[in-house]
Amino acid sequence: MFNFMKKWTNSEQLNETITIEQIKQHEIPKHIAIIMDGNGRWAKKRSLPRMAGHHEGMKVVRKITKLANELEVKALTLYAFSTENWKRPKTEVDYLMKLPEQFLSTFLPELIEENVRVQIVGDSSKLPNHTLQAVQKAMKETEQNTGLILNFALNYGSRAEIIHAVQQIAQEYKEDAISLDQINEDYFSDKLMTKGLEDPDLLIRTSGEIRLSNFLLWQLAYTEFWFTDVLWPDFNEQHFLTAIHDYQQRGRRFGGI
Ligand code: FPP
Repeated sequence: MFNFMKKWTNSEQLNETITIEQIKQHEIPKHIAIIMDGNGRWAKKRSLPRMAGHHEGMKVVRKITKLANELEVKALTLYAFSTENWKRPKTEVDYLMKLPEQFLSTFLPELIEENVRVQIVGDSSKLPNHTLQAVQKAMKETEQNTGLILNFALNYGSRAEIIHAVQQIAQEYKEDAISLDQINEDYFSDKLMTKGLEDPDLLIRTSGEIRLSNFLLWQLAYTEFWFTDVLWPDFNEQHFLTAIHDYQQRGRRFGGI
């Protein structure tokens, strides 16, 4: 691999085992966002239906949530369903819409016990009732929790989110509720669905794809990116620690020198 690639791509072939203790000696990213990609390919490689890959991927969500919480990461935003995913066959969409319920019916007690708070971003008005009810129940039952924020991006699309923010601000301006010079980056950020969350420090995308796929376009402006060829169902604690370890080696300058 060329040297320039090394800086931002993988290190899953790293020989060294990275420990939690090692990671804890340095700055832990406060907000980590993940594009969990490669479930379909994982299943195909095993001649299994795509749903098997999604099911396996759900188990990885549990493992990574536990570890992120243990590391005292403040927020973990997971891209579980994009506004573009409706284009998939109905059976797959139906299955993906059942996953939050499946996950929460099994793991909600554990999340409560571990002080994790569940939240969502995305257009929830288009979610099937059963999906929405499951996440609303989890949000309600965890709203007092002060540990990790487990933030599912469900029916999320960043461009739609930005357009919606612009519409709200335009309406306020039209009603003379704000002046032009009040519209700044903070004002705009507060109109996004991630209001209240700091921008991600680290973005992880699995499966070898090197693109953002309409995920958190505004919020990722200064985020460190970490890509790996590992398919999401194969992603494990060591990969996660490696991503954070690599993040800790980087010098973030936020445009300064
Ligand atoms: C992309 O892989 C993955 C998704 C569209 C779904 C991600 C969902 C999960 C990992 C489970 C979520 C769990 C909860 C609790 C909501 P892909 O299907 O596009 O894979 P491919 O590119 O290999 O076809």
